[in-house]
Amino acid sequence: MHCVLVARREHHLRALGRELEAAHGIRCEIVSADLSKPNAGRELLAEVARRGIVVELMVNNAGFGMVSSVEQTDVGRALELIQVNVAVLTELTLLAAKEMIDRGHGGIINIGSIVSFQPVGYMGVYAASKAYVLHFSEALWAELRARGVTVTTLCPGTTRTEFFDQSGVPGWAERRHGQDVQTVVRAGLDAFDCGRHYVVSGWINYLVSLAARFATRAAVAKWSLSIFRPHG
Ligand SMILES: NC(=O)c1ccc[n+]([C@@H]2O[C@H](COP(=O)([O-])OP(=O)(O)OC[C@H]3O[C@@H](n4cnc5c(N)ncnc54)[C@H](OP(=O)(O)O)[C@@H]3O)[C@@H](O)[C@H]2O)c1
Repeated sequence: MHCVLVARREHHLRALGRELEAAHGIRCEIVSADLSKPNAGRELLAEVARRGIVVELMVNNAGFGMVSSVEQTDVGRALELIQVNVAVLTELTLLAAKEMIDRGHGGIINIGSIVSFQPVGYMGVYAASKAYVLHFSEALWAELRARGVTVTTLCPGTTRTEFFDQSGVPGWAERRHGQDVQTVVRAGLDAFDCGRHYVVSGWINYLVSLAARFATRAAVAKWSLSIFRPHG
């Protein structure tokens, strides 16, 4: 597929675009956009339409995390997280889905997380944002699957990206031997191709995702404190 790459750092997008074009013989369009701004989703889709592009598969990947105690939480940043991880994902999903329904085909992959399945202490806002992504996307999967539109939620466990460096715990993914990006993306695309409502990447992560079903939510919430409890 040709791609439209969206993020804030244009130089990263341009480098990735060149790499993908050379490797796969596709065309990449670059849109530099800050998705934390109000109406960012609507404006992004308008820009894509202005370039004459029809979106056949949308991947809502942009997102960030926050690890901090309540006392140290920057409330403004927490609201920004909800804007990017929840509000703009909702805006983009609904607007794109309407067009796909009209066409009778299309797909959306939304990125949840292994924390979509349980509350996580010191990561409460982020984990709740990802629970929203899973529940919202699964509802749309059920509603749209008979109308030619597939909505799949990819739920990665710890993955080696910039995520934890941005979230306040640099080096976490390396220390936890997180999965590599290619493995996670492959799991997401395979699940999408099969029309699945969600997939957890990796069987250990899958088992962890079941914890909240077998233990009480209170138990997993208390257990989660040990993961990110601040030292000192
Ligand atoms: N890594 C993990 O362990 C892990 C686990 C579960 C789920 N996830 C989820 O996976 C998704 C991808 O994260 P990642 O691991 O690849 O982290 P990452 O390396 O930090 O990438 C985040 C991406 O989102 C973009 N982004 C962030 N804020 C944005 C904004 N305001 N406007 C536009 N783009 C923005 C970033 O580009 P710019 O900074 O250039 O804007 C970057 O491309 C996220 O939804 C994350 O929650 C990650």
